[in-house]
Amino acid sequence: MKIGIGNDHAALELKRELKDYMESLGHEVTDYGTNTPDSCHYPVYGERVGRAVVSGEVDCGVLLCGTGVGISIAANKVDGVRAAVCSDVTTAHLVKEHNNANIIAMGARIVGGELAKDILRAYLEAEFLGGRHQTRIDMIHEIEARKE
Ligand code: RB5
Repeated sequence: MKIGIGNDHAALELKRELKDYMESLGHEVTDYGTNTPDSCHYPVYGERVGRAVVSGEVDCGVLLCGTGVGISIAANKVDGVRAAVCSDVTTAHLVKEHNNANIIAMGARIVGGELAKDILRAYLEAEFLGGRHQTRIDMIHEIEARKE
């Protein structure tokens, strides 16, 4: 799979670890930054990865910040993004099966590297179940269409 990854300064080390991990699983990873430890603004990277996912440049995205929350909120402002913060394996497979999340977000201050890898693998290996779940996703995107 083609996977886009983005992060702020709080998650630089975790990003490097997860990028290597995904490449070891055979995925092609595009890194949208940041790549320095200098304090930066997570909305920049959330938006970059969100747009890359919606345009089809990558198949899905991984976003990382201190909690995973700020960067996922930013990505979710891009129409078509369904970014889900996960800090456990069960949520990680359910956000793909039920919500067809096209971005998974995690917090480097919340999960350690080994747990993050397990979460990521559960997300990447899960499959969307469709059916009634697709109806609900369509309803979510109808909300975007009603935006003023
Ligand atoms: C940066 O200090 C921190 O606010 C950010 O990484 C993230 O946790 C925001 O949601």
